[in-house]
Amino acid sequence: MIVKRLSLRHFRNYRDETFELSPRINVITGANAQGKTNMLEGLFLLSRGYSHRTNHTADLMMQGDASLNGFAVEAEAETKGIHHRLALQVKDGHKTWVVDGHSSRRQRDVHKLLHTILFEPDDLRIVKAGPARRRQFIDEEISGYLPGYLPVLKNYKKALSQRNALLKEIRRSPSMAVLLEGWDEQLVENGAKLVVYRLAYLKRLNETAKALHASLSDHREQLSLSYSSNLIAEAADQTAIQKRFAEKLKAGRDEDIAKGSTVCGPHVDDLLIAIDGMEARKFASQGQQRTAAIALKLSQIDIYQKMTGDWPIVLLDDILSELDDRRQEKILEILGQTQALITCTDSRFADRYPEEMKRIVTVQNGHQISQ
Ligand SMILES: Nc1ncnc2c1ncn2[C@@H]1O[C@H](COP(=O)(O)OP(=O)(O)OP(=O)(O)O)[C@@H](O)[C@H]1O
Ligand SMILES: [Mg+2]
Repeated sequence: MIVKRLSLRHFRNYRDETFELSPRINVITGANAQGKTNMLEGLFLLSRGYSHRTNHTADLMMQGDASLNGFAVEAEAETKGIHHRLALQVKDGHKTWVVDGHSSRRQRDVHKLLHTILFEPDDLRIVKAGPARRRQFIDEEISGYLPGYLPVLKNYKKALSQRNALLKEIRRSPSMAVLLEGWDEQLVENGAKLVVYRLAYLKRLNETAKALHASLSDHREQLSLSYSSNLIAEAADQTAIQKRFAEKLKAGRDEDIAKGSTVCGPHVDDLLIAIDGMEARKFASQGQQRTAAIALKLSQIDIYQKMTGDWPIVLLDDILSELDDRRQEKILEILGQTQALITCTDSRFADRYPEEMKRIVTVQNGHQISQ
């Protein structure tokens, strides 16, 4: 899939701007605070349905003009050889998804036709950060291609926060403990599904990331991934996980009540990343951790292609400036034939691409300026 044209209206610092894009490499350049990330954010929002920078839709609308009540992001895309017009229109906080002029579409209808993978400097910290960051990574990547995942995750999180609220109540009025049963059932059902999805995904990720990491480290190091969860004993099928989770919740009830929170479940699981058999978070050097992070992140390109038969659109926000020449070179090699939008303040790296393969877009204060 590729995006041929992207329009941003009253979005962030763009009043009304349409970008023509190359099917291969698009270098979005300009000084700081001019709108490079905003442009990528617009495309990411259209494809994924949320912003990677804010949970508040209102922040995305151009500020400082009292006459505005919304914004729009539109794209002309080509998916499996077919041309589509896709749009997100936001008015008075209400979102409308439009596909080829039909305005009653759902976000996932747009997502099916337009998938983006965003790579930003914070992703380089996946390996080093705490477990929550890695769970977020897994959750985001799985929901990127599996539409059924997000509803299960939402149900799980809802049940978890209700259960935690109830645990705190029980400390004051112990008779309320009878109500735990209902939330436990919800947790167990949705939680086991999450773990099964995650395990299946990690199987794929392990294969792809291992190969990429080998290539990035010139075959000197070996990456391996595993899912760390105390819900998994010998068997890791849904029924076995459900059973174990239910037992753990029951056994840990007193501790949960004392703490006022649920101690066990997929919300505390982790993705263990090892390099040559040693846990990367604890033992790897900064450079090794970054290489592993790149392998994890760029695996998404291949996984998506294998799952759907189509290449995603890759958004690299300021990532190249964080890396040395060799890693930059490797990343650009891994991008292969995919369309990429790459932001940077210095566009010299694009010199290696022939003119017909690239487009350089310079943005200044919410406008593109001609070359
Ligand atoms: N809702 C909004 N309305 C108007 N302007 C906004 C809005 N949100 C952000 N901006 C402006 O957009 C600018 C930031 O744009 P962006 O993050 O795209 O910068 P950038 O070009 O990526 O810079 P850097 O190189 O520092 O990453 C800021 O100056 C900010 O004032
Ligand atoms: Mg930026």
